[in-house]
Amino acid sequence: MDYDNIKEIVKNTLSEERYYHSICVAKKCKELAKIYNIDEREAILVGIAHDIAKEMSDEEKIKYAKKNNIEIDNVEEKHLGLLHAKIGADICKKRFGFTDKMCTAVLAHTTGLPDMNMLDKILYVSDTCGEDRNFDDIEYVRNLAKEDIDKAMIYLLELEIKNRIEKR
Ligand SMILES: [Fe+2]
Ligand SMILES: [Fe+2]
Repeated sequence: MDYDNIKEIVKNTLSEERYYHSICVAKKCKELAKIYNIDEREAILVGIAHDIAKEMSDEEKIKYAKKNNIEIDNVEEKHLGLLHAKIGADICKKRFGFTDKMCTAVLAHTTGLPDMNMLDKILYVSDTCGEDRNFDDIEYVRNLAKEDIDKAMIYLLELEIKNRIEKR
């Protein structure tokens, strides 16, 4: 499927706010893909589609996982929200016709994965620093993302861990 088709489905599936988020992520993915010299088309597609399963209810997620043989691990069982990455990757494969490489980027966008490639990293970072996001060091992270994507990843992972500890 091409960008416009997927964008239309995202628009009809998600809330207005999350649709806007998805567009901002796609835009950021495109910008970073250009800088890091990877396929811009793949980058905008994973950007627009990455949260396609984000607004499914817990019930829907469990039902989808069972029906499609998606394993739910111990952590996901307690935090069903995390499942939107696995389910999203599955939808991207079956409905949008994404390649395995693109599906892996969608899979990795919540918690990261070992050995992430450039597309994975770009989606991970774009998810947090698109135009729709705002936090104290956002301009710092946006610049860091353009200069050194690995440093931006580490910064964001550390920030996430700090926030989690604060929230216990
Ligand atoms: Fe997400
Ligand atoms: Fe997102």
